[in-house]
Parts: sequence; structure tokens; C-alpha cells
Amino acid sequence: MAKLWKGRTDAAVDSIADDFNSSIRFDKRMFVQDIKGSMAHADMLGHQGIIAAEEAGVLIAGLKEMLEELLDGRLTIDETAEDIHSFVEQELTKRVGDTGKKLHTARSRNDQVAQDIRLFLRDETHDIIALTEELIASLTDAAEKYMDAIMPGYTHLQRAQPILFSHQLMAYSWMFLRDTDRLKDCLKRINVTPIGSCALAGTTYNTDRDYEAALLGFDGIMMNSLDGVSDRDFAVEFLSDCAMLMMHLSRFAEEVILWTSWEFKFVTLSDAYTTGSSIMPQKKNSDMAELIRGKTGRVYGDLMSLLTVMKGIPLAYDKDMQEDKEPVFDAIDTVKMCLKVAAPMIATMNVHKDRMLKAAQQGFINATDLADYLTKKGMPFRSAYQLTGRIVADCIEKNTVLEELTIEEYRTYDALFEEDLYEVIDLTTCVATRTSKGGTSPESVKEQIAAVREALR
Ligand code: ARG
Repeated sequence: MAKLWKGRTDAAVDSIADDFNSSIRFDKRMFVQDIKGSMAHADMLGHQGIIAAEEAGVLIAGLKEMLEELLDGRLTIDETAEDIHSFVEQELTKRVGDTGKKLHTARSRNDQVAQDIRLFLRDETHDIIALTEELIASLTDAAEKYMDAIMPGYTHLQRAQPILFSHQLMAYSWMFLRDTDRLKDCLKRINVTPIGSCALAGTTYNTDRDYEAALLGFDGIMMNSLDGVSDRDFAVEFLSDCAMLMMHLSRFAEEVILWTSWEFKFVTLSDAYTTGSSIMPQKKNSDMAELIRGKTGRVYGDLMSLLTVMKGIPLAYDKDMQEDKEPVFDAIDTVKMCLKVAAPMIATMNVHKDRMLKAAQQGFINATDLADYLTKKGMPFRSAYQLTGRIVADCIEKNTVLEELTIEEYRTYDALFEEDLYEVIDLTTCVATRTSKGGTSPESVKEQIAAVREALR
């Protein structure tokens, strides 16, 4: 296809340079946004009398027809065009004749492309929010289903205190809920349009930017034409939200990988979300979780890549900015795939409560409760802590656990110990009595489940 900008120069661009310069391979993904944007632009030009109303009608009808044909496959995008914007204008002109050449009045590809990305990101952000909400629902349903499962809570990956498995799942529900909040907030910055900024300085035509913005469902227009065509901060912010979402997903995936190992065996994944080995017949690998963890690297890379592209380029538009699209598209595809696989993987997992409880029972996980027991009977906490530490050390030496010591043995350490200590260090009691707001008690977890479901509504 001929160059839109053929005018000043004569000689053809070198074919390798032409390939290098072209972005249609990837920006063709925005054809719907580009055409809808052009329809609104033609409408505004007609509305303002910049072109005749009939001409606007011809442009809009031609664009509408192209869009329908592209959507049902009757028309394919000619990849010899420089970019999607060139293709749309040239194809339109082929169809409607010289009127097509009026479409680009009071517009530049600089404001056009910035608007296209915003329209594209607006839809994709809504999709990602919806998929994240499905993941949250999946986690929250699992939290409700396994309400009675007690597991060791960890710090430093060392058994720390007993918790409800549901409490652990709900921790992730809250993280993902904040991820949706961040994306919703980002939409405020995405959903304003630079259209009408034109190349960089605005235009001498009597345009109505607000009218055009309203046609496309934008919340408003950008108030500085240089800013409008120059910044991609909304895309960086979107990528940063995606990176954070992936960070949370990756941590969860890492836990799934641990939990499904023979060493833990807290969870078995459905066969639909695991793979085998080509050589080791016994293997059942958590590949989906590993891929989620691995793909997090790509999304971090996408963020870093756009930050680096944007650093140090002078106002206004520079061709560097064509490099914004691939990282954005890659992050969108990656995040959506990961979310789509994570939600059903959680919904179909099998939880081994007995294994979790057993793991919780063997690590002196109730030592804090024993110290608190003494404290509530009057011993200062630090002394109770030290005494409990001595008891634990003795137990380890004698290869026993706190539950197994007799009351006589306990009383050799301190006379404050009475029969009721066994009830206090029972794991079910340890969990049930952590009734502080946000703690692991069943009431607290039920409250969390209700609150998260309310937020999803
Ligand atoms: N393909 C270009 C991009 O993605 C469109 C804008 C081109 N503008 C220009 N002045 N060459 O950024």
C-alpha cells in the first residue's frame, strides 16, 4: 500500500526499513477501536460543518461497512499498509472515493493512536476486572467449602501458628480485590481522550472535542494537546496494576506448587490442571501453577519495557512510542490466560484436611498459646515465653510434643499449670479463640467471606 505521507519525499523507503517502520503486524488488533474512532471523528466534522453532513454520512456508512466485513471475515487487513490507521483510511478511500480523503481533517495519527490504545485498554481493563472477580469468587467459595480445615500458618516457611485454610485463601481474595480496585481507579486515567490534539498543537479548525469524546463514551478530554499525544502514563499504570496482580497470582501459584508436593500433600489438583512426565510414570506436575509463576516475569518485563521506552523522549510524539503496544498486548494476553486457568484450578482442587491437621500438630505450633495461657494466669509474657521455650526444647530432646506431657510434668516447670491447659493448646481451640477482628477464628473468616461477597456484588 502507498504511504499516507507521500508528498514531500520521492524515493521509496528501503524495504527492510519499511518492515522495520511498520506496526500493522501488531496494531491491527485495534481495528475496531480505530474504525469506531474514525466514525466519531467523521460525525464531529459533519456536526461542525467542517465537511458537509452528506460527506460525513458517506464516511460513516463506509466505515461501518468495513467494520462489519472485517468482523465477519469478508475483508482482511492488508499487511502492506504501514499501520492500522493507514489501512483504514486507504481502504475507505478505495470504497467511497475522494470523500475518504477528508476523514483525516483536523486529526493526526498521533492523537488517533493515543485514543485507539485508550479505547482498547478500556475494554480490556473491564475484562481483566471481571476475570479477577471470578477468581476471587472461586477462592471465596473454596474458603466457605473448607471452613473446618486447620493448617499450619507459616512465617519464614516454618510452622508458626495454626490457622484455618480458609483464612489463607481469604488473604488472597483480599489481595485480588485490591487489584480490581486499582484497575478500576486506573480506568479514570484511561478513559479520557487526547483526540483533537492533532499532531501536537491543536488545530485551526472549529472542532468540538467534547462532542467527539462523548460519542465514544469518554469521561472527558485531555486539556493539553502536547500532553495528549505524548504521554503513555495510563498504559504504564495499567501494566503496573497487571504486574501487581501477577505478583499475587504468582505467590498463590507457589503455594499451590508446595501444597501439591508429596512433602506437603495438602492439596491435589484435578487432572485437568496437571501434566505428567514423559519418563517418570509416577509424576503429576502442577504445570499450570508453575506457568503462572513463570509468566509473571513477562508481565514485569512488559512494565519495565514501557517505562524504559518512555524515559527520556522529548515532547511531543516520537516514533519510540510505537513500542508501547506490544508490551501492553502481551500483558493483557498473559494476565487473562493466567486468570482463566487459575479460577477453575482452585474450584476443582481437592483439599486433604487430615494431612493439613497432621502437619499442624507436629511443629509446636501451639507454643504461643501455651505462653499466653501462663500470661493470662499472671506470669509476665516474656517470662512465659522463656519458660515455654524451655518446655519445647525438652520435648524435642525427649521426642515428644506439648499435648503429650502429663500435668505432673508440666507442674515441675510451674505451679500455674492446671488441667485446663490441654483445652487451651488444642488446635481447634487455638484457632477458635483468635477472635480478634481479621484473625483466623471461624467467625472472623465468615465475616470476611460475607464482606468480600458484598464487595463483589
Ligand atoms: N504507528 C504509529 C504508532 O503506533 C502511529 C503514529 C504515527 N505517527 C507518526 N507521526 N509517524 O505510534
